[in-house]
Amino acid sequence: KAEKSAELKRKNEEALLGGGQKRIDSQHSKGKLTARERIDMFLDPGTFQEIDKFVMHRTKDFGLDKEHYLGDGVVTGYGKVNGRLVFLYSQDFTVFGGSLSETHAEKICKIMDMAMKNGAPVVGLNDSGGARIQEGVNSLGGYADIFYRNTLASGVVPQISAIMGPCAGGAVYSPAITDFILMVENTSYMFVTGPNVVKTVTQETVSAEELGGASAHSTKSGVTHFACANEVECLEHVKKILSYLPQNCEETAPVYPYENGGDEIRPELEDLVPDNPNHPYDIREVISGIVDSESFLEVHENYADNIVVGFARIAGRSIGVVGNQPQSMAGVLDNHASTKAARFVRTCDSYNVPLLVLVDVPGFLPGTDQEWNGIISNGAKLLYAFSEATVPRITVITRKAYGGAYDVMNSKHIGADLNYAWPTAEIAVMGAKGAAEIIFKKEISEAENPQTKIDEKVEEYTAKFANPYRAAHRGYIDEVINPSETRAKLITAFQMLENKVDRIPRKKHGNIPL
Ligand code: COA
Repeated sequence: KAEKSAELKRKNEEALLGGGQKRIDSQHSKGKLTARERIDMFLDPGTFQEIDKFVMHRTKDFGLDKEHYLGDGVVTGYGKVNGRLVFLYSQDFTVFGGSLSETHAEKICKIMDMAMKNGAPVVGLNDSGGARIQEGVNSLGGYADIFYRNTLASGVVPQISAIMGPCAGGAVYSPAITDFILMVENTSYMFVTGPNVVKTVTQETVSAEELGGASAHSTKSGVTHFACANEVECLEHVKKILSYLPQNCEETAPVYPYENGGDEIRPELEDLVPDNPNHPYDIREVISGIVDSESFLEVHENYADNIVVGFARIAGRSIGVVGNQPQSMAGVLDNHASTKAARFVRTCDSYNVPLLVLVDVPGFLPGTDQEWNGIISNGAKLLYAFSEATVPRITVITRKAYGGAYDVMNSKHIGADLNYAWPTAEIAVMGAKGAAEIIFKKEISEAENPQTKIDEKVEEYTAKFANPYRAAHRGYIDEVINPSETRAKLITAFQMLENKVDRIPRKKHGNIPL
């Protein structure tokens, strides 16, 4: 009996070493933690329960029948984050470069199936050289088994992918389907084809970091939602994201303790919008003046910064915030801003996170670049995403709401629950100058002094439309409020909407213009 338990001890110790001490040292020398160190850092202490620790690959080709490691390059199991259940897998680069074999994939699929049955998030810590080259199609099949599950789990349980090393070729498509991707600066990269293939096919010379590092994907492609300075920050961010989300689509996010501090009226919001409608301000200051202090977690911070999206809390409750950013390109909607916001709105709606939409938008960005890259379809994505969202939805128009962008930005007409406007709001088809020049073209051209005529007509148009009252007279705006009372209003409004029930018509699934 003692011998048997010694054998178990020996096997457990062997499994903990992955590909061996030398390769662990090499991992450390690259500034990376090992798969198990990451798990220890991520989960609440002592909560990790490992599954399939002794699984080994079944390959005989290329000498692999003589090379086996317990666990086969991925550590899987479940544990707790801030007391809440999560399933996770952590790829072990010390074993065949974390490459994905048939059995490695089976381990990941097993915990994904368990997560679906038990309604809890799946977190993937990715660090892998891709398909296990010695296995051929068995490995490719394994990837597809994971992609298929990622797709079925989408919108059922939150799925988060942290990229903490290489993630190349087919491997990228699992993270791509999940809800959030986080990358670590300088030690992680993602691409469908690496620098060598790029060189052969397009003659471009580019480094791995330039092509697919955290910086490229957080600013240029928008593939990653977060670029983190190091692995510790990355794992902390995953925990933070989870704190705003429910365990699955049948639940709502946890409510954090909240005490009315007697400061729900925020005078500082009164002076944020400049008198001149063409002057910028930072919408983030409006957000932080409204939500619980320090609660805003910006998503896609460096991508399409003419729109700001992120999670926050208001009186302890999770909300998703979408706000045009007047500080960047006057807050105009373009291709990237539209798809960024559409994706975020759908993520929030999937997981029952109510939406707060702050509007200061001069319209859609004109130009061949925009039109030829599909602003019609991309703008439609945002319109569609808001329209089909059944979570509580509240809009606050701080300044401009012009043209089609007024409709798109969570207007009353597309199902928003409450629409507020500040007294500085201007809800019109376009800015007063452009409008006056079009509708009074004849009068202006015939006037003795065209400039005086323009000024006169601009003033007339401004007086009529550059305010929130026309819309309020029709009930398109539910209430015009002073900026300082916005937080107090929203706390009460989101509480009122807490038990909102709304359903879109029964269908197989909608056909969002992708
Ligand atoms: N299949 C099998 N083994 C792999 C592998 C793969 N896809 N990728 C890496 N390995 C192994 C290496 O043979 C090496 O084994 P060893 O420790 O016994 O020497 C170990 O993993 C580490 O790889 P190494 O190349 O030394 O690490 P690196 O940090 O210098 O480079 C990569 C990492 C990922 C850039 C490099 O390994 C690579 O290009 N791998 C192949 C990527 C690929 O084309 N995958 C298939 C497409 S999906």
